[in-house]
Amino acid sequence: MEERKERRIIMFPLPFLGHFNPMIKLAGIFHRSGFSVTILHTSFNPPDPSLYPEFTFRTIHHNNEGEEEDPLAQPEASGMDLVAFIRLLRQTYAEPFRESLTAQVGGGEKVCCLVSDVVWGKNTEDAAEEVGIRRMVLSTSGAASFCAYAAYPLLRDKHYLPIQDSRLDEPVTELTPLKVKDLPVMETNEPEELFRVVNNMVKGAKSSSGIIWNTFEDLERPSLMALNSELQVPIFLIGPFHKHTDSFLPTTKSKEDHVTTDWLDKQDPKSVIYVSFGSLADIEEKEFLEIAWGLRNSQRPFLWVVRPGLVRGTEWLESLSREFIDNISRKGKIVKWVNQLEVLAHPAVGAFWTHCGWNSTLESICEGVPMICTPCFTDQRVNARYIVDVWQAGVMLERSKMDRKEIEKVIRSVIIEEGDGLTEMCLKWKERAKVCLSKDGSSSRYLEKLVTHVLSIDS
Ligand code: UDX
Repeated sequence: MEERKERRIIMFPLPFLGHFNPMIKLAGIFHRSGFSVTILHTSFNPPDPSLYPEFTFRTIHHNNEGEEEDPLAQPEASGMDLVAFIRLLRQTYAEPFRESLTAQVGGGEKVCCLVSDVVWGKNTEDAAEEVGIRRMVLSTSGAASFCAYAAYPLLRDKHYLPIQDSRLDEPVTELTPLKVKDLPVMETNEPEELFRVVNNMVKGAKSSSGIIWNTFEDLERPSLMALNSELQVPIFLIGPFHKHTDSFLPTTKSKEDHVTTDWLDKQDPKSVIYVSFGSLADIEEKEFLEIAWGLRNSQRPFLWVVRPGLVRGTEWLESLSREFIDNISRKGKIVKWVNQLEVLAHPAVGAFWTHCGWNSTLESICEGVPMICTPCFTDQRVNARYIVDVWQAGVMLERSKMDRKEIEKVIRSVIIEEGDGLTEMCLKWKERAKVCLSKDGSSSRYLEKLVTHVLSIDS
């Protein structure tokens, strides 16, 4: 164990929370397995190193930083064209990343490998080759959605993509149980760039020395078998990451976290609907108002995360009148952010109305909380289909059908009537997620293989 501490792994996360969270947890897993870890991170959206004293942090700066024409000088990631933004991130940091990696590897300490977010694509490959280290990738989304990304060329050939409104409900027979409307795309002014980003990501995964997945075998076996034959590189399914590394979670709790917990403590068991659409998705003001009315009319207690920037064109809650807020505050609580892991683990929470980001999906599965699925873009659409049709751990509430009446009906079906065997299925998945991390569980075995693999590729 001590011996390995002199072996360092360099990690390069994508600077969005849904990507950074799993990467930092993976860093914790490596650290507990005896490796030292350096996190190379972009100057855009930098993490707070003081929260993770176990790791070394190095900031990668880019050339136009602080200048008037700095293309990345935006306070928030939400509301932007994400495809265009990812292209910009890749271009901006390609050279600074190469320089930074060279400096780290030249530091005298033995570096085993680079682990970069799969979305950085092949860009990181040349840099790793140049300094003579191998590159593994972390996929922060699930295996089922990666299958759909890997099938992009076929989906184009068969004209499923670009999506035509007239075909939304058609099954994609090559990717059962997906329908055309579930394919992982997103709104963008640069549709061709989306294809390039996805193809580059899949190529980068294929040419890597291994792919690490935040998922577990029992949950995604068929998709993983398909990926194994498609990608032809070693695959390591060691999720759910957050259940390995409790000791690496920041322990400081904000005043707001305490207020939220106090409020949850006062609610009946399994009575609260927790609503959150993650860190990037945004919605129209009209949709926001339907959600507000739907929650109010459901008469159920709710905890609603309205992230500043969630509602397009507004700061926070200004579309709601003071009277309306006072009225709904008798039943529910609106906050800007919560500690989601703690909220989902609280006994008062009976359902999670989610955008189905992969982290949220796994976190809900691990706590046995049924989901109401309103996917917004990319992998969230695939995840939602699997949650509802395959894992039977939730119900669908499509964005296009999200009016106050439908919202009230769906909330009641999940919280009051407890759906058709939904609770039992969710508890089953919770148990399975626990088993995979037990001593002989699949994720524990994959982790052993991963450690051996990393040590074998570092020469
Ligand atoms: C996005 C994609 O949706 C996701 O599928 C992809 O794999 C990563 O990038 P995001 O939209 O932010 O991520 O959603 P999600 O994957 O669910 O990640 C959100 C994270 O923020 C979760 O770990 C969640 O616990 C955390 N969170 C969210 C909080 O801690 N508090 C909140 O109030 C909301």
